[in-house]
Amino acid sequence: MSGFTLSVCSISRLEEYVDVFRGSSIWDRYFSDGNRLQRSLRKAVEREELWCALTPAGKIAGVMRVVPNGFCGLYHYLSLIGTSPLARGTGAGRFLMGEFESMAREGGSVRTCLLVSDFNVQAIDFYKALGYWELGIIPDAVKSGISEHVMLKELDSVEA
Ligand SMILES: CC(C)(COP(=O)(O)OP(=O)(O)OC[C@H]1O[C@@H](n2cnc3c(N)ncnc32)[C@H](O)[C@@H]1OP(=O)(O)O)[C@@H](O)C(=O)NCCC(=O)NCCS
Repeated sequence: MSGFTLSVCSISRLEEYVDVFRGSSIWDRYFSDGNRLQRSLRKAVEREELWCALTPAGKIAGVMRVVPNGFCGLYHYLSLIGTSPLARGTGAGRFLMGEFESMAREGGSVRTCLLVSDFNVQAIDFYKALGYWELGIIPDAVKSGISEHVMLKELDSVEA
């Protein structure tokens, strides 16, 4: 038992979702200028694509954005995930990934998919630990000079 529960995100806690990412490498590279992350998370909430892991006390341990069949209309796509700095290493990331994969199975996907930036070595190791493999890289995908690794997981595979 992880002790976390999954909840659909609400607009009233938007700033708390933003705080999950502050100080991370993806914050520094993508979100430190302006309010792009706020706008993106707001849109995700409106589309009911943003989910959070709550602690038994109701604190936000992590958030993720799931786009159903978002990869070529085939596989559920994980657009964003982050765990709160104090929750990192406590299983919140594993919990959210498990929930993401359950949603994908329930939606009929046989694989899940995500992108991870080349500089985010910790996240690449995290995904590999959970059974993801690398399909290839997209150079200059979002920002010039940064490659995105395309990672997939077969949903019938056993986790590493
Ligand atoms: C990447 C991130 C989501 C991982 O979440 P987390 O809550 O720390 O992960 P967990 O505690 O659930 O760890 C899950 C498993 O992955 C492994 N893992 C986590 N980080 C790892 C790392 N840097 N290297 C190797 N394995 C790692 C853990 O050992 C654990 O395995 P175990 O359950 O067998 O012990 C978190 O570090 C984060 O929010 N980073 C900042 C935002 C970010 O970069 N998001 C990814 C964008 S693509």
